[in-house]
Amino acid sequence: MKTLTITRPDDWHIHVRTGAILKTVLPHTARQFARAIIMPNLKPPVTTVAQALVYRDEILAALPEGADFMPLMTLYLTAATTLAEIQAAAASAHVYAFKLYPAGATTNSDAGVADIRAIYPLLAEMEKLAIPLLIHGEVTDEQCDIFDREKVFVDSQLSAITANFPALRIVLEHVTTEEAVQFVLAANANVAATITPQHLLFNRNAVLAGGIRPHYYCLPIIKRESHRQALLKAATSGNPKFFLGTDSAPHSTALKETACGCAGCYSAYAALELYAEAFESVNALDKLEAFASFYGADFYRLPRNTGTITLAKTSWLAPASFGADDLQITPLKANETLAWQLVAL
Ligand code: NCD
Ligand code: ZN
Repeated sequence: MKTLTITRPDDWHIHVRTGAILKTVLPHTARQFARAIIMPNLKPPVTTVAQALVYRDEILAALPEGADFMPLMTLYLTAATTLAEIQAAAASAHVYAFKLYPAGATTNSDAGVADIRAIYPLLAEMEKLAIPLLIHGEVTDEQCDIFDREKVFVDSQLSAITANFPALRIVLEHVTTEEAVQFVLAANANVAATITPQHLLFNRNAVLAGGIRPHYYCLPIIKRESHRQALLKAATSGNPKFFLGTDSAPHSTALKETACGCAGCYSAYAALELYAEAFESVNALDKLEAFASFYGADFYRLPRNTGTITLAKTSWLAPASFGADDLQITPLKANETLAWQLVAL
């Protein structure tokens, strides 16, 4: 049987939620990844180091016995974030970045930033203290077509941020367009991007053609095929600016399968399997290890992991759902065949 062994990977962008959902999804991530950048968009959001430490304890307590996994916490940037909080975050051993959500851009982003220029003093402090800024790169203008929101953000906001703060390390999260890829490529070495499995594997037909499929709906929304091709090329190029971030974002099946469904794909249960399928589709399995296990750690200035994981080329059926009845989560590719499988340790 064909197998692939790589250094243990990290997930540089994930939503693990809290409470019962956390308990359901966290074991999936802890099984695959050594570390993960934990998104702070809880209700209410995680805006202070003190809150992040409480959340971190909840995550550690939800880990299965013997799991070897480290949550890397982030803080949610708001107009009310203080310089003192940035200093506290930079000094904390557990907080690794700030997350910028344009207000209203995505799930639980109401408390986000409405006017990015107004927080420039905060960005200056982050630049000075060398703490990275993670960006959900979409404008929120209702007049702007949803398929254009990332491109418009890159042109109108991100270019100004990178021009004003050249030494600020920035991750443009879950890039979905050729324009975003081009921007990251042209920017200096402080600008990087994460790429999700769904944006590498699917184009918008998966969401909208032949029926509307809510479990493929996430933000930024999956784009047309030419963008998928650009993302695949970037992810498999061996360029260290592009690394793994699943954006696994669980919502209950009930909240996805409804008249106005939530944005977010649940991929953590088979994250590496999905990436392996995408990389194999362009004969680039040899590029998976650096994308999954090296470039993100290097960007965050953390040591690369030791130890390995192994994937086997063996097809299996993705489960229909995870979790108990009152908290059912339908994963990406539910009831569909996956080509690779993580070998049990
Ligand atoms: C995320 C979520 O559900 O928290 N949803 C998503 O579609 N990606 C938020 C986000 O990362 O945009
Ligand atoms: Zn996300």
